Amino acid sequence: MSPRPITRWPSKHQLKTQRPWLLLIVITFLLSIITFNLTSFILQHANSLGRSCSPLVGSVVPVENRPRMAIVSLSNRVQETVWQNKKAYAKKMGYRFIDASWMIDRSRPPSWSKILAVKSSLRDHDWVFWNDADTLVTNPDIYLENILLALIGRNDFNSTPDFILTEDYNGVNAGVFFFRKSEWSERFLDTWWNQTSFVKFGSTKSGDNDALMYLIANLPKEEKQVHVRISPMQCLFNSYPWFPSRKSVYRLLLSPWTTWQGAYSEGDFMVHLAGIGNKKEWMSKMIQDTRTPRRKTFSNLN
Ligand SMILES: *[C@@H]1O[C@H](CO)[C@@H](O)[C@H](O)[C@H]1NC(C)=O
Repeated sequence: MSPRPITRWPSKHQLKTQRPWLLLIVITFLLSIITFNLTSFILQHANSLGRSCSPLVGSVVPVENRPRMAIVSLSNRVQETVWQNKKAYAKKMGYRFIDASWMIDRSRPPSWSKILAVKSSLRDHDWVFWNDADTLVTNPDIYLENILLALIGRNDFNSTPDFILTEDYNGVNAGVFFFRKSEWSERFLDTWWNQTSFVKFGSTKSGDNDALMYLIANLPKEEKQVHVRISPMQCLFNSYPWFPSRKSVYRLLLSPWTTWQGAYSEGDFMVHLAGIGNKKEWMSKMIQDTRTPRRKTFSNLN
């Protein structure tokens, strides 16, 4: 047996006087880990902590005069499981599910084709619910009618508003939204498609969301009031998972209220992996989480 090397620990005095910065770093590090995990935990349980994504308590089962509703999405680069998730939800609730991949216009980044897909699907439906491919139904017991009811405030969906969407840190989000079959909607979609100056190639942004922000910001006030409805709570149908990262911490500090309104929590209708890099891994994780009643933290992914 070789003799154990003698470790020479610095005396308490030395630690105090010579390395206060070391202690400070360790404490700061531990504190931030605790804060991050606590924040994650709080946001994941936002709904049990009193957050309400919808003014409606419980959900009404729609029976009469149900609008013809289509859920429309593009399937490029998406997992089969996501597809199954949407199909199962649509079937359960009696909606049509449309894969509009066949109508992708190759002259622009694929994301722009959602405009064409929605416009075409509106021909045969009263309402179209657009879903980006990186979204997942996380609470299949919520009817789309109840989401509309929460925002429109009445039970018939045959008149304005025509366009229903949510806002995140950047403004209106073009990942998940509703359009009603109407002349206004058709014209708005055409105008949106016509914003060619926003088309961007080769970056993470394709420009369709920027074009939408521009259009919404420049709508005459009265027109916007009548035709557009922005959900007061993002979590009504477009929740973003929150996990510690430089960006999310920065956003949390700058806009804590937006974070609270939009962070994915148990019971939310839909999760949207907007701006997340490893979407496939996240999708599997979210699917697992929605299958198991008691959800685990997803802090080990980012
Ligand atoms: C969109 O552009 C096309 C082609 O330039 C034009 O015919 C059409 O009127 C435009 N629509 C709207 C609503 O701006």
